[in-house]
Amino acid sequence: MKRIGILTSGGDAPGMNACIRAVVRTALANDLAVVGIRRGYTGLIAGDAMPLDRSAIRNTIHLGGTILETSRNPEFYTREGRLKAAAAVDRMGLDGIVLIGGEGTFHGASLLAADADTAALVGVPASIDNDVYGTDYCIGFDTAANCAVEAIDRIRDTARSHERLFFIEVMGRTAGFLALESGIAGGAEELIIPEEEVTVARISDRIERGFIIGKKSAIVVVAEGKTPGISFEIAREVSERLNFDSRVVVLGHLQRGGPPTLRDRVLGSLLGFAAVEALMEERSGCMVGEVGGNLTHTPLEETWQKKKPLDRDLLRIFPYLSE
Ligand code: F6P
Repeated sequence: MKRIGILTSGGDAPGMNACIRAVVRTALANDLAVVGIRRGYTGLIAGDAMPLDRSAIRNTIHLGGTILETSRNPEFYTREGRLKAAAAVDRMGLDGIVLIGGEGTFHGASLLAADADTAALVGVPASIDNDVYGTDYCIGFDTAANCAVEAIDRIRDTARSHERLFFIEVMGRTAGFLALESGIAGGAEELIIPEEEVTVARISDRIERGFIIGKKSAIVVVAEGKTPGISFEIAREVSERLNFDSRVVVLGHLQRGGPPTLRDRVLGSLLGFAAVEALMEERSGCMVGEVGGNLTHTPLEETWQKKKPLDRDLLRIFPYLSE
């Protein structure tokens, strides 16, 4: 292993820069050359790379977003696109690539490895959705969840003052991690997550029960699921059923930006180091992660084929704490 590439792909996540920095510093300390591939798989297909030295990553640990930029590239989901990428990897002379991203990134990487005998591929999980199997937490989740909690706290002030019902929509396309943890930390009255079937009747009943026992305002945290903006419809139906005014706040991409929290900086640093270590151990086709406080290596296929479950205990306590 002499020369490695690094890219960020899919939705950006705070802490990606801490990870890039850790990869570069660990690689340089081990006499590996590092190149940064710009704009994720778009740059991999085009062979768009820049050398990464110490000066390129200096003073970046506190920055959100990704200095390498990112993309979601449909061309990579075609065999033709992946063969172009494999040819570019050869041209760039890469022995290994660190791929920082989520499920979609690792799905793409598995397909690339199946199509071509290319560089060793090691993934690092970064997604504010936290929905990658093989790690307890993904880089970016903690920052996004803290952003959501701060928003819930602010809205609670106005909800209490006006005796109102609020629906706060957080991100999470296929998973309710952000909704569950920010809902518990923000003291939400009800949760709507993709993992559980909910009906307007159930949501309304639970909110009404709260009003009966003396609550005067309520907050429902909604995971956006596959239909961002879904909260508007739910809010209208619940309001009609309860004959109670409501408001909707969609947090959207606010949750993706901003300086990473301590947890995301530390996790990004740890997993960046671990990714280079994995390449030096001649591992390939795996994702580094942290499970139960231990560094792990999970086959790339499992990271997107297996569904990461929500924390059962958190799900169990929620109904008790929300009344
Ligand atoms: O990165 C994950 C995520 O933030 C999802 O929660 C969300 O549904 C999606 O990305 C939005 O992606 P974009 O607007 O960048 O296409």
